Amino acid sequence: MLSYQHSFHAGNHADVLKHLTLVAVLERLNIKTKPYFYLDTHAGEGIYSLESSQALMNAEADSGVVQLSQTLQDSMNEASKSSDLIRCYLSIVDKYSEKTQYPGSPMVAASLIRQGDKAFAAELHPQAFEALKQNCRRSGVKAQHRDGFDMLNAMLPPTPNRGAVLIDPPYESKTEYQDVIDELSKAVKRWPIGIYMVWYPLLSATRIDRKSDEIVDNPKATLSEKMLSHLASLNVKSVLNVQFCNEKPSENVGMYGSGMCILNPPWQLEQDLNAIIETLQQSLVKDGNQLSKVQWLKTE
Ligand SMILES: C[S@@+](CC[C@H](N)C(=O)[O-])C[C@H]1O[C@@H](n2cnc3c(N)ncnc32)[C@H](O)[C@@H]1O
Repeated sequence: MLSYQHSFHAGNHADVLKHLTLVAVLERLNIKTKPYFYLDTHAGEGIYSLESSQALMNAEADSGVVQLSQTLQDSMNEASKSSDLIRCYLSIVDKYSEKTQYPGSPMVAASLIRQGDKAFAAELHPQAFEALKQNCRRSGVKAQHRDGFDMLNAMLPPTPNRGAVLIDPPYESKTEYQDVIDELSKAVKRWPIGIYMVWYPLLSATRIDRKSDEIVDNPKATLSEKMLSHLASLNVKSVLNVQFCNEKPSENVGMYGSGMCILNPPWQLEQDLNAIIETLQQSLVKDGNQLSKVQWLKTE
């Protein structure tokens, strides 16, 4: 059932939101010198060519990272438009864009972790794992050919005891939403103080059926919201949610946005996410919609 290939989507608006959130969380952890643990449960290949046939199929990076870099370059003198976090993210991206590549989450993390931090990346797809293993060499991130959820619960509670987990499943199957809830319910019992970042898609309620050309319901459309309400009820101190919508939902747009739900967010992450959303709103929104938001789902 491992049919998903992230190379079709690398650098799109959802990757931009996810990787900016990852930068924000790791930069907050970097404030203290004490080492931390980091696990990427669904790591992907690590590096993606933006010239591959898959990436060129829908050229999703063009309305994501490419547009963000371009917009901010055009407004270079307007320092307020580009927060430090966006600059940090784009400086990581720049290291790869010379080769027309885009860094996936393990490489974003590799750029930010320090000596002494312990970072791991799990990938189940054999070919994606081979690429990940190569890309993680000498990066400080240990790649493992393993089910990310198995690895998560096997490693918790981690040493060092502070740190973060990124959970970024493909959500190809409807059951993956429930898997996230089940696995996180177990994880927070073993490591209640961990920071957990969960990426999820925002899908339009209806879509055009390719065969009949008719508008039909999208059965997955409500699953992210349902998952969020479960995550908000988990036994953690607080839950922060950020959503970025580059378009309005409609039958012509499958994924109109995406979100990151953060359990036990670090102090002041809310301000970071608000700054990120403001920049993305100015740079990437196609239709002027104001659907993006940062909201607490649970507070202390
Ligand atoms: C959305 S992609 C990951 C993208 C990556 N996190 C990034 O931001 O660059 C999801 C990946 O999870 C892998 N995968 C699917 N199920 C998995 C599982 N149970 N454990 C580990 N990896 C899995 C897929 O092969 C795919 O490469």
